[in-house]
Amino acid sequence: MSNHAQNNPTSTPASTRTDLVVDTTSPEGTIRLGAAVGRLCQPNTVIALQGPLGAGKTQITKGIAEGLGIADRGKVTSPTFVLEQEYDGRLKIRHLDAYRLAGPADLWDIGIDEMCKAGGVVVLEWPERAAEALPEDTLWIYLEPTGEQSRHMRFTSQGPQSAKLLERLRKTVDAEAF
Ligand SMILES: Nc1ncnc2c1ncn2[C@@H]1O[C@H](COP(=O)(O)OP(=O)(O)OP(=O)(O)O)[C@@H](O)[C@H]1O
Ligand SMILES: [Mg+2]
Repeated sequence: MSNHAQNNPTSTPASTRTDLVVDTTSPEGTIRLGAAVGRLCQPNTVIALQGPLGAGKTQITKGIAEGLGIADRGKVTSPTFVLEQEYDGRLKIRHLDAYRLAGPADLWDIGIDEMCKAGGVVVLEWPERAAEALPEDTLWIYLEPTGEQSRHMRFTSQGPQSAKLLERLRKTVDAEAF
């Protein structure tokens, strides 16, 4: 139920220093947090969702989709077996899952480079299986289960576009409980 922003005290470049930590206490809270992210997405925003099975990667994607104007979040389901799903909101969302992939080549084969530059939003679950296929300027969200209903979420930006999103998100979530 708490969230706080902090500067990472390492000597990384300014664009990668932004860090935000948010704890959610219910699936609904995670969806609301995702919606705040979705509202801030710009063309070519790329989001990597890393965390164990059941961490809430698909839940937060439902929120991201809602924040991007997709009315029916029920449409957003796990792409584990289909690899990619698309939703049309304010921006087109491509929701991908690398769980069953052997490595980045599988994402290159389906055109991940073009997808990330096509003016929409790309969300990838299990990004650590194929991280080389993602652009450097990706917003990484690490999701960690801390209880049955609680999840610890850590956001890091890796470039100017993701840093800007994070800066704005920090202002949005500052006074809110999730
Ligand atoms: N605070 C919370 N945030 C998100 N999900 C939560 C939370 N508390 C409980 N849950 C439950 O955890 C589960 C998360 O499932 P979800 O499909 O989003 O996980 P996932 O990370 O996408 O897993 P997978 O790796 O299998 O794709 C749901 O059943 C949800 O109801
Ligand atoms: Mg999932």
